[in-house]
Amino acid sequence: MRKYLLALAFVASPALAAGDIVMHRDLGCGCCEAWAAQVAKAFGKAVTIVDDANRANMHKRLGMQPALASCHTAMIDGIAFEGHVPIADMKRVLATRPAGVTGLAVPGMPIGSPGMEVPGRVADSYTVIAFGAGKTSAFARR
Ligand code: CU
Ligand code: CU
Repeated sequence: MRKYLLALAFVASPALAAGDIVMHRDLGCGCCEAWAAQVAKAFGKAVTIVDDANRANMHKRLGMQPALASCHTAMIDGIAFEGHVPIADMKRVLATRPAGVTGLAVPGMPIGSPGMEVPGRVADSYTVIAFGAGKTSAFARR
């Protein structure tokens, strides 16, 4: 049986189990939790949520352009996921590890992206962007 866990830790330095997913989010942002719940279920791992008042620092450290920013950044096996990245794209980048790619980003918060479902609203179309080594490229169009 797979374990579906969603751990909420509102502290700066949570004690982590090996292989846990850590997600930094804008303070108290709710759509991040909706995305994290889907990720926890899909990966069968706990997601530790860290409220982070200065996520720009993390973006800088990751070499991510500010234009790619959304409401949260999660790290899985050394790859960064910024915003409401679809699970299928996460699994693909983790499996294929394209050269020079250190993260995927969905800038802003498109309606209909995972965690941003709004009943009765037509989904936005958006591009999942791969970044790394100072470059960006389109990874998927949704
Ligand atoms: Cu969001
Ligand atoms: Cu959010």
